[in-house]
Formats: sequence, C-alpha cells, structure tokens
Amino acid sequence: MGAGMETMKPPPGVADPRSLRRVCGRFATGVAVIGACAPQGRAVGLTVNSFASLSLEPPLIVWSLARHSPNAALFTPGAPFGVNILRAGQGELARRFATPQADKFAGVPHWRCPHGVPYLDEALARLSCRVERADPAGDHLLIVGAVEDLAASDGEPLVFYGGDFVRVAA
Ligand SMILES: Cc1cc2nc3c(=O)[nH]c(=O)nc-3n(C[C@H](O)[C@H](O)[C@H](O)COP(=O)(O)O)c2cc1C
Repeated sequence: MGAGMETMKPPPGVADPRSLRRVCGRFATGVAVIGACAPQGRAVGLTVNSFASLSLEPPLIVWSLARHSPNAALFTPGAPFGVNILRAGQGELARRFATPQADKFAGVPHWRCPHGVPYLDEALARLSCRVERADPAGDHLLIVGAVEDLAASDGEPLVFYGGDFVRVAA
C-alpha cells in the first residue's frame, strides 16, 4: 500500500459506483467524441473517455456506451462510426457533446463522410470505423470497432483526470 493511499474496502465482490468512479478517475485518459449518422441523416455525437486501442492486427479499437443511450441502436454490427480525439483546449466541446441536446453539431465546424458520419474539423486525430461487435457488459455496451481509415495531426491532447479536464505537464 502506497503512503497516504486511503483504504476503501467495499463488501467482497462489490465496489459502490462512487468509489469505483473515484478510483477509476485516478487513471488519466484522453477524450474523444464518437460520431455516427442517425436515420434521416441526423449527425449524432457523444463524449467518451472509455476509448482505447485494442488490436493492431487486425486494427481494432474499443469503447463503451451506456445501455440506456438513445443512440444505442445505431451501433449494431457493420454500422459506420467515427472517433474524434480531442485536443487540449477543447474541454468546452467535450462538455457540449456530453450534454443531451437536439443538434450537438450546430455551429461546430465539421464535415460528413460519404456514410454521413460527422468528423470535427479541429480534432487532434480521427479514426473511421465499423462496429465489429457490440456486447452487453453491465450497464454498458462494449463496442469493438474495426478501423478502416485514420489521420492524426500534431498537438497536445485533452486529458480527463479526477473528474476534470486537465493539461499534460511538459
Ligand atoms: C469526460 C467524459 C467521458 C464520458 N465517457 C463516456 C463513455 O465512455 N461512454 C458513455 O456512454 N458516456 C460517456 N460520457 C457521458 C456522455 O457523453 C453523455 O451521457 C452524453 O450526453 C451521451 O449522449 P446522448 O445524450 O446524446 O446520448 C462521458 C462524459 C464525459 C464528460
């Protein structure tokens, strides 16, 4: 046990949501906006920090989506979606895409691929994917995406740590 580390002992096999959130919040992550195209061509997007690289050969990524999400039906096997990795300074954009509203892309510079998937002009990097599988895992769906195209630019990432957006120290 590290010095100063507070012991939190949940009953065996049980971690209450607050403790789990607090402990997992000690794991710094990047932040991404997942974009997809809903029926009638409506662009939808949501902020996630559950994104991770999964496999290089074949190229796979993974993220999780709350099962109660109104967009859960969009992420069925074969469906295209995009991952927009955010850059430092895009905390407001991350908050916008984490807040339910009719058109999150209104006024946000973006473009649409031929499948209608929206991509943010100012993202640090992007991956174009198709859902490989979407499996229930607790209160989330574990979504595995096959990467079909990708691009990156230079810059600093947006980082989520301890429940807040932070900058990486040089
Ligand atoms: C930093 C951050 C990370 C998040 N990560 C996830 C995530 O990994 N999966 C998820 O389903 N929601 C995540 N959320 C919450 C969604 O962004 C939020 O519920 C959003 O409103 C869902 O979009 P919708 O209301 O259009 O369905 C996160 C929110 C924030 C601020």
